Amino acid sequence: MKTKTIFFCRSCGNESPKWVGKCPSCGEWNSYAEETLVTGKAGKPAGQSRYGERPQPLLVKDIVSEKETRINLQSTELNRVLGGGLVPGSLVLIGGEPGIGKSTLMLQVALALENRKILYVSGEESQQQIKMRAERIGIKNENCYILTETDTQQIIHHVGQLQPEIIIIDSIQTLHTEQVEATAGSISQIRESAAEMNKLAKTTHIPVVLIGHITKDGSIAGPKILEHMVDAVIQFEGDRHYGFRILRAVKNRFGSASELGIFEMHANGLREVTNPSEILLSQREENVSGVAISAMVEGLRPMLIETQALVSTAAYGTPQRSGTGFDLRRLNMLLAVLEKRAGFRLSSKDVFLNIAGGLRVDDPAIDMAVIAAILSSAEDIPISSKTAFAAEVGLSGEIRAVNRIEARISEADKLGFERIFISKFNSKGLDQHKFQIEIVPVTSVNKLFAGLFG
Ligand code: TYD
Ligand code: MG
Repeated sequence: MKTKTIFFCRSCGNESPKWVGKCPSCGEWNSYAEETLVTGKAGKPAGQSRYGERPQPLLVKDIVSEKETRINLQSTELNRVLGGGLVPGSLVLIGGEPGIGKSTLMLQVALALENRKILYVSGEESQQQIKMRAERIGIKNENCYILTETDTQQIIHHVGQLQPEIIIIDSIQTLHTEQVEATAGSISQIRESAAEMNKLAKTTHIPVVLIGHITKDGSIAGPKILEHMVDAVIQFEGDRHYGFRILRAVKNRFGSASELGIFEMHANGLREVTNPSEILLSQREENVSGVAISAMVEGLRPMLIETQALVSTAAYGTPQRSGTGFDLRRLNMLLAVLEKRAGFRLSSKDVFLNIAGGLRVDDPAIDMAVIAAILSSAEDIPISSKTAFAAEVGLSGEIRAVNRIEARISEADKLGFERIFISKFNSKGLDQHKFQIEIVPVTSVNKLFAGLFG
């Protein structure tokens, strides 16, 4: 048995035989930590492992192709984010800040799956605590086992005995393996434990879901270094002030990485929000200026979401710009476009922008709604709540086409909107007779202003 000292980057997991100030891999400063590694432990004879027979090389034509059968998790939102259910033998990481609801989500899934043998391993809470939580959520599955264990070898042993259909590990940071000699939660422990869970999943075909904590500043190593080891990374995020929780696929080997699931936290667990437009269009009175509704698409799903802007005269020399749920640089860019290309004097104004529901939006199609909300607030003229927008705005003030325009229009149509502004380039080849909603094609920010308030 050999021990050696090795340095790991806490940010990206890069390893180095000596300490370095700046990580050559991710550029982070002062992120290296020292850890002791024990290597060359009790070697196994070739062809064997403690997981059973080792795989042998096979000709492609000899590999029996299995029909991919996914495990339906009885949760529309989670199934969709995973790309249609949980793939047997896959290793999935659910990451999120402490307290966001990761344990609740996975326990809820485990308890809702009737007649599926599930092993929920917790290194964070006692069996009593989990029982209390389970009672709040409601127990449908009589076959859900709770194990409080942090030793990977023990977990592997119980998996062998129990033969569960799904394994949930809460959390990866609490696991430790005797393969490496470092404290639980350290980078080499997390990495090695995850590697063992991966082996377990791949050799037994039982899917393993790892729960992982990430802190706001990302200082604690964990999920980040695991990203390339797992098949799918699902991020659970949300704003503590709203009850909404958003599940986002960051990486998915078995599906699209742009899917989104929305939940709402209640006293008895998480409720799925299957019609997000309902909540993202906040209840408001008609005739308020500064509000515009965007028809956006997240993953495959179109949804309508409210953007709110407040433009006011700056009290101090430097005007304030702030965006909640929207990229600040993009907001500054849009303001510059309004100033330079459309002649709106906004440089001496404070501009605040807010996306409803605490959602963070990356879809560029929200641009036109942002511009419309800002113009509406600056001019103090309300926009009808039956009007929606879906287009990107370019640097010269041109209104650009966006993808999946038909899905956006038909969602707005379905929800009873009367008018939707889109890019002229999107209106070409569009069968407008399919929709009841009036489609207004525009080419520039100036034309949008004229169309709205002219
Ligand atoms: P938790 O799942 O423990 O978060 P994580 O595992 O991500 O750290 O739960 C987070 C919060 O959710 C906690 O503050 C309590 C709250 N909660 C509810 O509001 N309703 C519930 O039914 C449960 C189980 C928890
Ligand atoms: Mg937890």
